[in-house]
Amino acid sequence: MSALSVFAPAKINLALHVTGQREDGYHLLDSLVAFSPIGDRLTLRAAGDFSMAVSGPEARGVPADHSNLVLKAATLFAEHTGMTGSVAFHLEKNLPAASGIGGGSSDAAAAVRGLLQMGFGDAPAVQARVLGMIGGALTRLGADIPMCLSPVAQRVRGVGEDLTPIQLPPLPCLLVNPRVEVATPAVFKALRQKDNSPLPAPPTFATLQECIDWLAQQRNDLQAPAIATAPVIATVLETLAALPGCRLARMSGSGATCFALFATPAEARAAETALRAARPEWWCAEGTLGDQRAASAPRPAFN
Ligand code: C5P
Repeated sequence: MSALSVFAPAKINLALHVTGQREDGYHLLDSLVAFSPIGDRLTLRAAGDFSMAVSGPEARGVPADHSNLVLKAATLFAEHTGMTGSVAFHLEKNLPAASGIGGGSSDAAAAVRGLLQMGFGDAPAVQARVLGMIGGALTRLGADIPMCLSPVAQRVRGVGEDLTPIQLPPLPCLLVNPRVEVATPAVFKALRQKDNSPLPAPPTFATLQECIDWLAQQRNDLQAPAIATAPVIATVLETLAALPGCRLARMSGSGATCFALFATPAEARAAETALRAARPEWWCAEGTLGDQRAASAPRPAFN
């Protein structure tokens, strides 16, 4: 295969408990994660050298050089697999950067998935070496990369490398970002927390409402320190909670993107329309979490 297009979905932390801290400073997490049909799209084309171009509505400020996680992940992949050949990447950036929904990590994971799908190292021995990277080098590159390698609902523990897939009902969702970039290290630094309890084991949810009720009892421990860093996040959460039909409003990751859950996709769409009218300066996108499989299936590149 000489070209391929891979979907890099937004990852949403439906709940995120900080359960401790390692000696190297990284925090131990217990998080429930789901993926959105909203995301970036990465095109890979066989080429003489690794290169990268970025376009799309959120491309501004996204580096197209070796500081981009896509090229960093591809370089690691090549080092670990002895891959011969190179790829030109084209990233269509639809997700706001530094916003708590895994954009850069999802792009990097899409690069690894794309390289595997293009046949750069799909022999079992090479796959095993790539898996070996997951626990180490890729996690250090971006703690969200391992969970984005297989973008399905999962419970994430450790610093992001301990993954357990779970079943969740499809969750109609509205994502909102107030156009404030939040630096993850600053949020972790501002964390002042007494409760280090892990998530209770997620049960099998019979209904959407049961799932939302369970989520409502959990937390995002990074929400308070993120609000201390960027107070507008509190305004976003209040605005989402006041939207008709909103069942739960919470921040994702280290912010500033927040999500609202609804009982039906129609309610989520109506909320998006209302919010776009009320807050045209905010980024918002509606889509049902758990519906990204069709969008994430590999497909040939057309341009
Ligand atoms: O890997 P990522 O970009 O998500 O992490 C950025 C920074 O956030 C890390 O360098 C670290 O300071 C902090 N972090 C942490 N614990 C985690 C993930 C990130 O303390 N589990």
